Amino acid sequence: MSSETKYDIPFGRPWIDDDDRAAVMKVLQGHILTHGPECKGFEDDWVEMMGSGYAVSTSSCMASLHLAWLDLGVGPGDEVIVPAMTHAATVHAVALCGATPVFVDCEKDSGNMTADAIKAAITPKTKGIGIVHYIGIPCDMPAIMKVANDAGLPVVEDCAIAVGSMIDGTHVGLFGHVGCYSFYPVKHITTCEGGMIVSKDEETVARIGKFRAFSVDRTFSERKVPGIYDVADVGMNYRMSEMQGALGRTQLKKLPEILKRRKANFEVLKAGLLEIPGIRVIDDADPRYTNTHYCLVAVFEGDLGAKRDDIILALQSMGVGTSVYYPHPVRRLTAYKKHYGYDDGAYPNAEAISDRGIALPVGPHLNTDDMSDIADALRATIAGLSDG
Ligand SMILES: Cc1ncc(COP(=O)(O)O)c(C=O)c1O
Repeated sequence: MSSETKYDIPFGRPWIDDDDRAAVMKVLQGHILTHGPECKGFEDDWVEMMGSGYAVSTSSCMASLHLAWLDLGVGPGDEVIVPAMTHAATVHAVALCGATPVFVDCEKDSGNMTADAIKAAITPKTKGIGIVHYIGIPCDMPAIMKVANDAGLPVVEDCAIAVGSMIDGTHVGLFGHVGCYSFYPVKHITTCEGGMIVSKDEETVARIGKFRAFSVDRTFSERKVPGIYDVADVGMNYRMSEMQGALGRTQLKKLPEILKRRKANFEVLKAGLLEIPGIRVIDDADPRYTNTHYCLVAVFEGDLGAKRDDIILALQSMGVGTSVYYPHPVRRLTAYKKHYGYDDGAYPNAEAISDRGIALPVGPHLNTDDMSDIADALRATIAGLSDG
């Protein structure tokens, strides 16, 4: 906290403790830095956490998404339905395969794509559906899978910021072809950089696991003659290191406490914000869903909307960290606008979040008193704007 700021509330802060540090040091004291037992153990622990399915660790969520679409073989001439409201990575993975992203707006209250909107975007060229579980709120996967199955289309779930999110007890990522997770520093848990691919299908995970490691056909332990292997396909190196695997395992032990704190923080902050006129909170109260509260996204309504950036800067000057999830509907980013153009108002719900929304922290580095402070700071900021 600088001497002038009233609060010390960063948007995100990895929760690294002595157990994490010891686990990483142990790897460095040994000789196995990759291809070892820690990544395998992390994958096994992950499956245990989900209660079913299969998992393979990767170098990032973006790598996982890329592997997923490569595995599905989408390419030039194919269309893939993607969310307008997501991180660029969700769409980059499709675009890097040469396929055409077809953007679909999110629903206003949850920030997620609906099954109906997806259905309306399907054409004879559609070869897949990429969805994102926005800020920990599950998409309605039973309804989306019905649309996908009726059309014979695979679904890739981007679960980057939905670690632990479930529908009726089934973890997100286990509904579609595969699910992809992120362990970037400010995510629910971290391995510095890192990702996981999950699926309910063992063969899919085994195939992608090989593709993630150059498509070498046998692991060290499977090689009869050391150094002799074959390469069955043109694959990638998207592996996770043993240090990251070890860190993932100790981080995962903290997940129940992390999710408990996030939920408690979210509830207090939401209650505080709903007392302030002109603020709408993105949430979904579907009783089937377990939301894992990556952050709280509030959208400013009416005249306040145009003052969003002033509000962000005022909060920053008080020591309250914020972010925007996400700053543009992906098609409005230069990388996509230059190919596909952009008409203002094309994705109104995504635009509302990008242009009038603010992401507030609820992570385990903060407590419920901090949440009350955030609501107070926002109330004071808004009052100050009206006075001015
Ligand atoms: C929805 C979504 N997908 C993918 C990513 C990329 O994750 P990674 O940094 O692990 O590649 C992010 C990062 O924030 C994200 O929010």
